[in-house]
Amino acid sequence: MTSAPSPIENLLTENRTFDPPEQFLERNPVIHCADMETYKALYERSMNDPEGFWAEQASKSHWFEPWTKVLEWNCPDAKWFVGGKTNMCFNCVDRQVEDGLGDQYAILWEGEPETGSPEGHEVRRITYGALKRDVSRFANALKSLGVKRGDVVTLYMGMVPELAIAMLACARIGAAHSVIFGGFAASAIVDRVQDAQSKVIVTCDGAWRRGSVVPLKANVDEACTRLPGVEHVVVLKRCGNDVQWSEGRDQWWHTLIHGQSDDCACEHMDSEDLLFLLYTSGSTGKPKGIRHTTGGYMVYTATTARYTFNLEPGQRQIFFCTADIGWITGHSYTVYGILPNRVPTVMYEGAPAWPAEDRFWDMVERHRVTHFYTAPTAVRAFMKWGEEYPRSHDLRSLQVLGTVGEPINPEAWIWYHETIGNECCPIVDTMWQTETGGHIITPLPGCTPTVPGSCTLPFFGIDAAVVNEQGEELPANAGGLLVIRKPWPGMLRGIHNDRERYIDTYWSKVPGMYLAGDGARRDERGYFWIMGRIDDVINIGGHRLGTMEVESALVSHDAVVEAAVVGMPHEIKGTGLAAFVTLGPDCGDANHDELRESLRDHVAKEIGAIAKPDMIRFTNALPKTRSGKIMRRLLRDIAAGKEVTQDTTTLEDFSLLAKLRESDE
Ligand code: PRX
Repeated sequence: MTSAPSPIENLLTENRTFDPPEQFLERNPVIHCADMETYKALYERSMNDPEGFWAEQASKSHWFEPWTKVLEWNCPDAKWFVGGKTNMCFNCVDRQVEDGLGDQYAILWEGEPETGSPEGHEVRRITYGALKRDVSRFANALKSLGVKRGDVVTLYMGMVPELAIAMLACARIGAAHSVIFGGFAASAIVDRVQDAQSKVIVTCDGAWRRGSVVPLKANVDEACTRLPGVEHVVVLKRCGNDVQWSEGRDQWWHTLIHGQSDDCACEHMDSEDLLFLLYTSGSTGKPKGIRHTTGGYMVYTATTARYTFNLEPGQRQIFFCTADIGWITGHSYTVYGILPNRVPTVMYEGAPAWPAEDRFWDMVERHRVTHFYTAPTAVRAFMKWGEEYPRSHDLRSLQVLGTVGEPINPEAWIWYHETIGNECCPIVDTMWQTETGGHIITPLPGCTPTVPGSCTLPFFGIDAAVVNEQGEELPANAGGLLVIRKPWPGMLRGIHNDRERYIDTYWSKVPGMYLAGDGARRDERGYFWIMGRIDDVINIGGHRLGTMEVESALVSHDAVVEAAVVGMPHEIKGTGLAAFVTLGPDCGDANHDELRESLRDHVAKEIGAIAKPDMIRFTNALPKTRSGKIMRRLLRDIAAGKEVTQDTTTLEDFSLLAKLRESDE
């Protein structure tokens, strides 16, 4: 635990403003939105005539058949580009080939150094032409397994190009994908595959991470003991580790694509056909499958990527998003938003500090990366490792820096600006969510003056506001609920199999408005400041976890009777996990350090390593109200080492407070 101030507290006092750097303006002849007048005019247009604005954006994509209506809105159900027929894969791949760009690079992938390849860097540069061939072969392979339009294929892979290929192959044939982050454990696979009813899982033998093999196939095997509906497991050979084989069910990727035709027509998908499910944590129960459909998501990711990063194929650009594709950031800004913009996208395998802390800077230098997009937690880690790592590389190719996933504290922002951006790269602090499909509040480079810690102004078409529970907009600087009052093309179309939860979570608290689940304020100039989640979702270094999920994992350990999990300030992650745990009667003599390790391991096994608590305190009882509710806010104060200022008169047992403070860590 650390006594570092919460990044969120820091934000509230920041007011330095940074105008778009001159060098950026000089180096970029084309800036899609070059000044605030243009921004305001376009924003106003998008508010006053959303259908006209979005029709114009959508016309930049390829449609087999045009839409008949831009929007059909029956709150909370949106249909965009109604009647339009298109294909996401066609827009990402074929279109470039048809326009004679087949020899240009689409994906630039780098394996984990040393372990992936003994000679050093294993790099694959995949052109649009090669991508079309590989995607078509795999699409035909999926068809040969019986995958049809409308099915959901689960992808549980490492960061290899074949993950992007598999996603695009699904999109090509009209199957939806559900990507599961490779850091999740077997039981996370079980929940997601069951909910999605996937019959096919695509995985790898293993994934390289920090010189070790993450046993992806073994995790799938374990999950499959509880998944009788899974008919096929396709296994990409990546690490060469031993794997168990289930004859009839398992097939090697390379065997399966052998002899498959390079030709596979793109299905003409309805604009509202499901493109993918992506499971994300909510405040209660199991992860929810967020539904994104084809046309709206396609238009929204391409448009946001184009403006937020000023993508322009005529200007030599290389886009590097460090997120794993298992999260929405990788879906939208490694794959779907970038490829149609004809800018090469960088994928990397491994971990940021392996084999050394300069992994990213080494890649930026060798590949002449122009756009670098990462999470504040990573920036804080870079700061801690020391500036000698970036200083030992030539980072002058960089032009735009981005952050995503959580508020960035001004100290980290300034460091990013000076040490990585050499004060000449705009920083885009992009606020958005799995549910929003793409950026909703963000600066535009070369346009928006930035203030460290603020995600600044809404993207075109986003009617964002800070309101009270009656839906009334609050005055400047008053904290309230972040909502979006109009539909936008990238919005989720529901939670898979759970209509009620969709309505409850997003549309009930403030009727008629989309509730983001974040607290926010807007300052005098209209800039947004995100103040953190208002529900029991915690952002751990930009990764979203529900406290309930971690609590259920802890309680499933034999020694544990009850557990409460809250967020606490953490120097690197921004927010860490603190667990308060009551033990069963048999554990009186147990060694607490060993038990703590055993609990951490157990959580890693149940959910994945990202969910391991940073602090575990054992206690005889948890503080509860008389009606039996755990007092989480009080636990948050205790975990943060703060004085407990809130009213504790409803606390069952006053002496518990003192005990909780004392209990060892
Ligand atoms: O709390 C907000 C935070 O991340 C949440 C969404 O998490 P997830 O769906 O996993 O998507 C993360 C990547 C898009 C939001 O509700 N968040 C995301 N970006 C920012 C942010 N908080 C502050 N500033 C941001 N730029």
